[in-house]
Order: sequence, then structure tokens, then C-alpha cells
Amino acid sequence: MNYEAGKLKRPITDEVRSSVVEDLPELNQIKDSTLRAKAIEAWAHALCESSFQRIRDIPGEGNPGVFTLKRGNQADHLRGVAHLAAKIVDEFEGSFPEVRIDRDIVLTGALVHDVGKAWEFDPRNLERWQRDPDRAGEPSLRHSVFGAHVCLAVGLPEEIAHIALGHSREGQHIGLSVECYIVRTADHSWWNLAGALGLLTPESMKAEADKMVRPRHAAEAPLKQARAG
Ligand SMILES: [Fe+2]
Ligand SMILES: [Fe+2]
Repeated sequence: MNYEAGKLKRPITDEVRSSVVEDLPELNQIKDSTLRAKAIEAWAHALCESSFQRIRDIPGEGNPGVFTLKRGNQADHLRGVAHLAAKIVDEFEGSFPEVRIDRDIVLTGALVHDVGKAWEFDPRNLERWQRDPDRAGEPSLRHSVFGAHVCLAVGLPEEIAHIALGHSREGQHIGLSVECYIVRTADHSWWNLAGALGLLTPESMKAEADKMVRPRHAAEAPLKQARAG
């Protein structure tokens, strides 16, 4: 099999870097210029290692086949998580000025938390894992694990690699930083609310959806009143 994970399939060019910022314009809000440049590099590296041309080409799903957006792509998810995480920071900083949160780490972490999806969703990898699962694993590495690898490979700080790893299931096995916990909360809330609001395909929600929720169909009919009169 001799598949060289992490080896670039095509060179990283400024065109790829520009497409990353076009798809995730919130990257411009990262104040630390080194952090911003490395976040762009992380996505450029992940894309050039995959068969995806740009972030918006990655399907809008939580995992392959799970939590599938009816409309939209991975960029919509990443931007939504970044918006939500920033609002969480605003709320607590506004109401309790004594809290200490590193906003740049939250924003960067939110924008790169799923950088490993270029790997986990790559059709070439999916085909390879399905063909040879007893040898390769299925998947060999989840996006959270591969994302942490990408973050460290491009020189992002450990705090960001920790968010990439800890935002997802792997986070249950480690202690989470405050910034990771904010991104994880925004991420899980985003998917659960997308499900509740009828934005996900019902078949993709069966195994993972919050059992408490009764999803409402999106924009199929005006909101009916729960109670007559
Ligand atoms: Fe994720
Ligand atoms: Fe996510």
C-alpha cells in the first residue's frame, strides 16, 4: 500500500492560500499575524495533501455520512463555529469583565478545528480504507487526530493542535483548555442546532442526534402555532 500520509500531492501556492482566505474570511480577524499566517498554511497544507481543491469543496458533514447538511459545505460549518465561539467570548467578557479568554486562540482554533477533514473526507482515502480496513483502519486516523498533526506540522502552537484534537470525541480522554472547551461547545451546539432546525438530512442524524430534540422542517411551511387560539 505504501501510502505516504502527509506527503503533498501538489505544491502549496499563493492561489491556494488566497482560496483559503476567500472561503474563511474570518481568518482576517485573527490579530496575531504569525497565528493568522500559520492558520492559512494549515489549511493550504491539508488541501494540497488531499484531492480537494478548496475548503468549500469538502462536504458539509460532521463525519463522512453523519450530520449531512442539506445545503452548504464545510466552509459554512467552520464560519458558523467561528461566529458562535466569538459570540460566546463576547457574552462572558461583556457580562463578566474579570474572565480571561485568549480570543485569538479561540478564533484560530475555531477556523482550523476541522482542518483534518481534508484527510478524513478525501474520496481516495475513503476508498482505500473501505478496501483494506483490517490493514489500514477505517478511518486510519480521524480528522481530529490528523488535524492536530497538520497544526503541529505547519508550526501552529500546541494550544491550537489541542483544539483540533480535543474538539471531537478524543477530547473525552484529555483535560481541555478553556479555549478548546469554547470551540468544542460552539461546534457541538452548531451541529445539534442545525439538526433541530431541519438543516441536516434525517438519515444522517439517526445514530448521533440528540435524542431530546424534535427536529423542525426548514422553510417548508410557515411556523404553525403549537396551540389553537
Ligand atoms: Fe470535527
Ligand atoms: Fe466541526
